[in-house]
Amino acid sequence: MIAPRLHPDKHIAAQVVAREIADLIEIRSKSGKYTVLGLATGATPLPLYAELIRLHREAGLSFQSVISFNLDEYAGLGPAHPQSYRYFMAEHFFRHIDIAPGNIHIPDGLSTDTTQTCADFEAEITAAGGIDLQILGIGRTGHIGFNEPPSSADSRTRQVHLNDVTRRDNSVFFENLDEVPTSALTMGVATILAARRVELLAFGSGKAAIVRRAMREQPSVDCPATWLQRHAACTFHLDPEAAAMLRD
Ligand code: F6R
Repeated sequence: MIAPRLHPDKHIAAQVVAREIADLIEIRSKSGKYTVLGLATGATPLPLYAELIRLHREAGLSFQSVISFNLDEYAGLGPAHPQSYRYFMAEHFFRHIDIAPGNIHIPDGLSTDTTQTCADFEAEITAAGGIDLQILGIGRTGHIGFNEPPSSADSRTRQVHLNDVTRRDNSVFFENLDEVPTSALTMGVATILAARRVELLAFGSGKAAIVRRAMREQPSVDCPATWLQRHAACTFHLDPEAAAMLRD
């Protein structure tokens, strides 16, 4: 089931989700448990990472008991490439907090054996005890992670071809469209659905149509985000613009 949660703006949404994450980390660490977070890149989670960094600096939130798994990485881009997701996460989140570098997991974009790399990634999630809380954005194609249509509900971490719409949307971060990789490694839909809690963030009018489809269409491979309707604890955190087409 998807529970929509409307916030006055993306910064307040970020504060609410950051508080949930902080509470989870603090409760679990008190009983000596790690918290396993699934993380996303892109423009959407930036206010969330800024708020978590603020809580770390100003309210003593520690990430020493956190293990993280990022959703995806561009195939062919290494950690030094400014557009790689490993670089993005270091720049916008990890270098500002106290997470142990060994607890960070991001698919290896330079892998020469992607089948093995993806299988290892799944095994590492299992070994960590599964994902406690997964952060998601949503693409205009209905992708979650880089699970473009058609992606089935039982898909697992694998190499995928990137949709032209997604490559064009993401080209704003590159010099030009030709530089946007054509494939990526991504957690699968089943990997995401196995997370105990899913918090999807969507902000701005550009997300209104796909948010409506994700919540209202019959679950199908044509809009992978619709599979989230089958999750027992999934919340869509929306600003008024992203929620604008849910009124009827
Ligand atoms: C990012 C990811 C993608 C993005 C989606 C939205 O790790 O997996 O699914 O969440 O493409 O991107 P933004 O937030 O840039 O609109």
